[in-house]
Amino acid sequence: MRRLRNVGLSLFVFTLMLMIAACSNSVAKPAAKTGETYNFKLAHITPTDHMWHKAAEKFKKELDQRSDGRMQLEIYPASQLGTEADMVQQISSGSVDFGFITAAYMSSRAESFTAWFAPYLFKDLEEANAARDTEVAKKILGSLDEQGIKGLDYLFAGSRVMLFKDKEVKKPEDMKGLSFRVTQSPPLQDYYKSLGASPESLPLPEVYAAIQTGVIDGMDMDLDATITNKYHEVAKYGAVTNHMVWPSVAMINKVTYEKMSDGDKKIIDDSIKAAADFAVKTRSAQEDEFKKTLSDKGMKIYEIDEKLFDPYIKKFDEKYEQTDPVIKEFIETFRK
Ligand code: BEZ
Repeated sequence: MRRLRNVGLSLFVFTLMLMIAACSNSVAKPAAKTGETYNFKLAHITPTDHMWHKAAEKFKKELDQRSDGRMQLEIYPASQLGTEADMVQQISSGSVDFGFITAAYMSSRAESFTAWFAPYLFKDLEEANAARDTEVAKKILGSLDEQGIKGLDYLFAGSRVMLFKDKEVKKPEDMKGLSFRVTQSPPLQDYYKSLGASPESLPLPEVYAAIQTGVIDGMDMDLDATITNKYHEVAKYGAVTNHMVWPSVAMINKVTYEKMSDGDKKIIDDSIKAAADFAVKTRSAQEDEFKKTLSDKGMKIYEIDEKLFDPYIKKFDEKYEQTDPVIKEFIETFRK
């Protein structure tokens, strides 16, 4: 009888242990979800139908999924938080966490970003995208450290084209004297000056009215932004020169990033990489569709022989290779 009682007791203890183990297992699962929670803000200048906004939405989704909901992101598109200069200041001070800021604007704050604007450096977007992962491209991102910013990655929105209000420019010499909208970026302004144009550094939201009213004769743009901003309504000619790539720089406030655990940093890095991969893959597949859309809307879409620009490419390389060793390394690595 006593033996039977002992067996009963052992069974009871064993069952109790199993229950405790089961209990602690069910506690262990939510434990994976615990950790710091974040309500991030991200700012950029493009409209919500531009690829960079879609990439921001992808980033938001990736953060949410990879962190089991701990990382939430509020996106402020279309210059809601001001100009790119304002946004970079906000990121640097920490009042905004993330930004997708044009490398063109960044070239006015950190010279090595100029390297991305060496004319005709990459054959196509895929080739430029492959450069993202190189040491020299990472060195350029690293130059933001001293501004309180961590550069995370690059997001591409196609390559640059030239739009003209009512003159079909067929060769560089035809640019002479044209009032031409160029982003406020020293290398871009310089390139157009060398072509004989008079660069006007208008921010994106002012460009439509400027070309409509004849304040400018043309603009440096990408096909995506040409469609999303409806420039086909005010510019008759689109020369698909693809003369420069057009990355934005994905960035985060440096202190915010450095305070995170290694696991959370990895979630940020992996999520931004997924968003950048998504952007370039989607955008590469849209080139023909965008040209057709603009053609169907009445814009004359044409090409200009790249060879005609050889002297201007040489001039650009010679000038900027001397200004910064990282620019020299970048051009030497990718110029074929
Ligand atoms: C521009 O300033 O030309 C621009 C900026 C962001 C996306 C596309 C174009």
